[in-house]
Amino acid sequence: MSDGYLRQLSIDGLGPTPDLGNSGRRSYTLEQINELRRYLATVRPKEAARFFPQRRSGEKLQVITVANFKGGSAKTTTSVYLAQGLALQGYRVLAIDLDPQASLSAMFGYQPEFDVAENTTLYGAIRYDEERVLMKDVVRPTYFTGISIVPGNLELMEFEHQTPRFMLQNRGKAEDLFFRRVAGAIAQVEDEFDVVVVDCPPQLGFLTMGALNAATGMIVTVHPQMVDVASMSQFLLMTSDLVSVIEEAGGRLDYDFLRFLVTRHDPRDVPEQEIVGLMRDVFGADVMSATAWKSTAIANAGLTKQSLYELTRGAVGRSTYDRAMESINAVNEEVVGLLNQVWQR
Ligand SMILES: Nc1ncnc2c1ncn2[C@@H]1O[C@H](COP(=O)(O)OP(=O)(O)O)[C@@H](O)[C@H]1O
Ligand SMILES: [Mg+2]
Repeated sequence: MSDGYLRQLSIDGLGPTPDLGNSGRRSYTLEQINELRRYLATVRPKEAARFFPQRRSGEKLQVITVANFKGGSAKTTTSVYLAQGLALQGYRVLAIDLDPQASLSAMFGYQPEFDVAENTTLYGAIRYDEERVLMKDVVRPTYFTGISIVPGNLELMEFEHQTPRFMLQNRGKAEDLFFRRVAGAIAQVEDEFDVVVVDCPPQLGFLTMGALNAATGMIVTVHPQMVDVASMSQFLLMTSDLVSVIEEAGGRLDYDFLRFLVTRHDPRDVPEQEIVGLMRDVFGADVMSATAWKSTAIANAGLTKQSLYELTRGAVGRSTYDRAMESINAVNEEVVGLLNQVWQR
């Protein structure tokens, strides 16, 4: 919308009432922007879809799993920026922290040791005993409009310990198969969200397998260095073994998309260029065209548990900020493109 149109709306008292600064500049919170989106969608029903991206009837919930067992491949960073980027577009996002180290939770202001009590991680909703709770009881709001989270902490490790025990006791009971539990928990709250972003732990355990089974789309993050690429190929081999195990047990892995995302990428570094080139040769269009550029602004913002979406340009330096945001937004736009393809928009 043009500035003029928005100004007129506000003067006419239509839609939300923005904050009016000294210079007459209007600022809207994300909540108000979403209100504005809803308002525009009602007054211009023909263009509703353009203003209001939330999924409509017949469009399924999308579960994007961010995985790779290499620590430091920017899984958590990718998850945070993706969740926030989608929320800014007006999608209702559920972020799930499957990593016992819980850096995603910390990014959203929940300290795993202090703010996450017993039975309030995803483990609470997928555990095998009678202490199990409903998924809605472990979903909590965040300070970021449009994003809810299921936080993590060390308790998640219990699932890795309990699953083999449970399998021994219950051989052949298909309805209780461990790899369906994450999907089952997500299904309980599916009406409330458009996209679920799952931040995986850096190993291929039962939690990750649950996430692979729940996923409708998968993003494998890769830092383009030879050791990381070698480890990624290990990850793929092991995943494909696991996938066969799951499929033999009657599970279905049917991704709408699987993409490799190059992360922490320094496009001026020649060896990195070569590795990205190699990946594009081998995986073709499965490697996302956009790459997440390495940026001190992203690293520094992460230290204070903030993302660049939460900072002003002035706080980090205009050109650093712009360069980093350009690459992050390009990644997010490409993912939105994939979502739209799935929803056949
Ligand atoms: N694009 C980037 N530029 C600079 N640093 C980054 C970038 N992405 C991630 N990092 C930093 O790399 C480290 C590992 O990232 P993280 O997302 O925690 O990886 P993972 O979850 O895969 O272990 C963090 O310190 C993070 O701030
Ligand atoms: Mg992480």
